[in-house]
Amino acid sequence: MERLRDPVLENDWHAVCLSSEVKEKPVGVTLLGERAVLFRTERGIYALRDLCVHRGAMLSKGRIKDGAIVCPYHGWQYDGEGRCVCIPAQPRGERIPPRAKAESYACEEKYGFVWVCLGKPNGGVPHFEEFADPAYRPLPCGPYPVKAAATRVIENFTDFAHLMFVHEDLLGHPDHAELPEIKVIKEKDRIYIENIPIFQPMAHSGSDKKEGTTYVYRKEVYRALSGRLSKTDPGNGQTLWILITATPVADDECLVFMIVSRNYGFDVDDGNFIRFQDIVFDQDARVIETQKPELLPLDLQAELNHRVDIFSVAYRRWLNEMGVVVGTA
Ligand code: FES
Ligand code: CO
Repeated sequence: MERLRDPVLENDWHAVCLSSEVKEKPVGVTLLGERAVLFRTERGIYALRDLCVHRGAMLSKGRIKDGAIVCPYHGWQYDGEGRCVCIPAQPRGERIPPRAKAESYACEEKYGFVWVCLGKPNGGVPHFEEFADPAYRPLPCGPYPVKAAATRVIENFTDFAHLMFVHEDLLGHPDHAELPEIKVIKEKDRIYIENIPIFQPMAHSGSDKKEGTTYVYRKEVYRALSGRLSKTDPGNGQTLWILITATPVADDECLVFMIVSRNYGFDVDDGNFIRFQDIVFDQDARVIETQKPELLPLDLQAELNHRVDIFSVAYRRWLNEMGVVVGTA
């Protein structure tokens, strides 16, 4: 696959795998059509283009030795910056050609994920204070592979009107589908909406579904492909935060990472929250993977936008303003 050129997404950070996956072996990932290898040494975690400059073998099929990654083909060794530090076939003491250098990428760990930027980072990895707050318990979920554009996944995240149908009985109910007036607020790096009440039927409340709680939501899209939401029970202040980031693997394929973080129910098994998110996101993915066209149309006349879609329309405008190419049409 060719590297997908996108001046915005190339210079942004993308989660590529869980930190816990990168141990003593190199790990291969794909970002924007580009294969990258991640490896960990005593000095930290590194990302290089997954292509040996000698004969193009995949470095991720190699191993780590003395703080360097060893190509599986002829054993050339590269350090974390991509410099070749050993060519075993060359006589000892001979200089290593300076061109023997693998392309290196910016790489950081945060929230339990490894983040990579293929270009020049346009800022730091998204910072979301609620995932550092000790009053909350953050749990990584996924990653979930989705055969759809990352932009479609984030647009689905901006959408409220599907909760009562795609997530009927879990997050909403068709009898309570009406939405209030929504106002989108725009700031540097983000667009958001707040104070959105959504009725959620109580689990096992019987057939009439009259019993339940009206939660208050806030949703934010951060840069092009990340977002977060909070869902609060105004009666007791219990709040659930969700961070979502969709990593474009290809134009029409992505890997979705999430963290759910709560300030309540610490006595409840964490696995319940992760399993719930698995179910909810699977319901989303089943629909998103059927959407046509696959690439999110930024022409606002291309699909029928209703007044209640104001946040997703704002998202499309936002992508257009930024100039995002991958996953859009
Ligand atoms: Fe990597 Fe030859 S292809 S060392
Ligand atoms: Co959903």
